[in-house]
Amino acid sequence: MVDTLFVAGKHATKEEKYEVLLPQLKALVEGESDLIANLANLMAGIKEAMDFLWVGVYFVKVQELVLGPFQGPLACTRIGFGKGVCGTAWKEKRTIIVSDVELFLGHIACSTLSRSEIVLPVFRQGEVFMIFDVDSKDLACFDEIDQHYLQQVVYLIEAII
Ligand code: SME
Repeated sequence: MVDTLFVAGKHATKEEKYEVLLPQLKALVEGESDLIANLANLMAGIKEAMDFLWVGVYFVKVQELVLGPFQGPLACTRIGFGKGVCGTAWKEKRTIIVSDVELFLGHIACSTLSRSEIVLPVFRQGEVFMIFDVDSKDLACFDEIDQHYLQQVVYLIEAII
């Protein structure tokens, strides 16, 4: 468990920021078994280190996604299967990167400040258990570098669920 996050300097590349962040995220969840507590701290750590607009998860609950721990502006609490970017990532069981949310048909705008988004499914026993969503106020914020490192966060979550 760490109680102070060390954040790479403002001139660091995003790879450097993620490289500094990931070991701390691992340490953060070590020794704590409560999923909600761990998710809450993981989302807070990512938001603080990477300065994203919104970082959070939705849980798969029967026919819908239901909002879980997050950091950022208020978010919609429920998203249907196949709806929005999150519901589409759930339905298609794949990561989706949206460079411009205005160009994604059916995008659900929780915050008008959100301009781009990455959504990654989290699996348990081969089924989507949770959706991990990160939003940015910048256009085209997310690329394969973010996908690579945020997938490491997904693996970390999958190891504790
Ligand atoms: N934009 C998402 C909804 C969730 S919020 O961005 C937090 C979507 O289209 O599914």
